[in-house]
Amino acid sequence: MIRHFLTLQDLSPGELKSLIKQAIKLKAEHKRSSDPTTPLKNAVLGMVFEKSSTRTRVSFEAGISQLGGSAIFLSPKDTQLGRGEPVEDSARVLSRMVDIIMIRTFAHDIIERFAAYSQVPVINALTDSFHPCQLLADIQTFVEHRGDPQGKSVCWIGDGNNMCHSYINAARQCDFELRIACPEGFEPDADLIAANKGRVHVFRQPEEAVRGCDWVATDVWASMGQEDEQALRANKFASFQVNHELMALANNNAIFMHCLPAHRGEEVSAELMEDTAVSVVWDEAENRLHAQKALMLFLTNRY
Ligand code: CP
Ligand code: NVA
Repeated sequence: MIRHFLTLQDLSPGELKSLIKQAIKLKAEHKRSSDPTTPLKNAVLGMVFEKSSTRTRVSFEAGISQLGGSAIFLSPKDTQLGRGEPVEDSARVLSRMVDIIMIRTFAHDIIERFAAYSQVPVINALTDSFHPCQLLADIQTFVEHRGDPQGKSVCWIGDGNNMCHSYINAARQCDFELRIACPEGFEPDADLIAANKGRVHVFRQPEEAVRGCDWVATDVWASMGQEDEQALRANKFASFQVNHELMALANNNAIFMHCLPAHRGEEVSAELMEDTAVSVVWDEAENRLHAQKALMLFLTNRY
């Protein structure tokens, strides 16, 4: 059976735990420069990007090469995808030629339709609704810095967006409490909250949400595709900045994460971003590489 990774829910909690372990192991091997084994020798990763990317593109491209394979970058501008070839047709054609496909796109149903017609594993590299690869890296980063997130309190400050939705999924998969602070009208999906009642709580005040938390995360106020709303959102989210004052209300040892790119002075203060005693954003970014290598190995049954 082909396994896809469209949301975190495509892994069982046990599989997720072992994937994170594998990612930590791959990272150690990579640091020792002792990863000449090439379990994905000759494998080809197709990378479809309908939105911009730095981390996702580079981590997947570097990751597949380190595992012995190679990548093909596919932009809709230069492919028939951008000229209206149906997703279902593109999926059937591409998956006859490559071994794994990752897609960054807009509506989540695009990737679901693609996966339904693909003969090879499909990875969600961000949709308007979810960003599960980022959560693999975030969970790995928490495990490395603070241990198992089970039973911890995690705080999401800001927009109820794709990242927030993936944090809700992570709360369920890793068994932690998620306290979300967002302005009225910017809540995460109501069905997703309802499905996680009891562990996910929505607050209006960041100061209230952050109390007792061990892990605080945020993201930009206007996501890709929402550029026109930047000014309106900057106004609505003005009191939702994560900074040292807010972190002081969290637990003593709380750490800060941001999927990046960050807008200093908006959702995060420049001082907090740079304070490596609290901010683990660079480890978090690096872990995209290791976590996605583990993911590609998992989806191709290499461990
Ligand atoms: N965090 C993240 O996905 O970054 P990119 O948009 O640069 O890929
Ligand atoms: N919420 C952001 C995440 C970027 C990695 C976006 O979708 O643009």
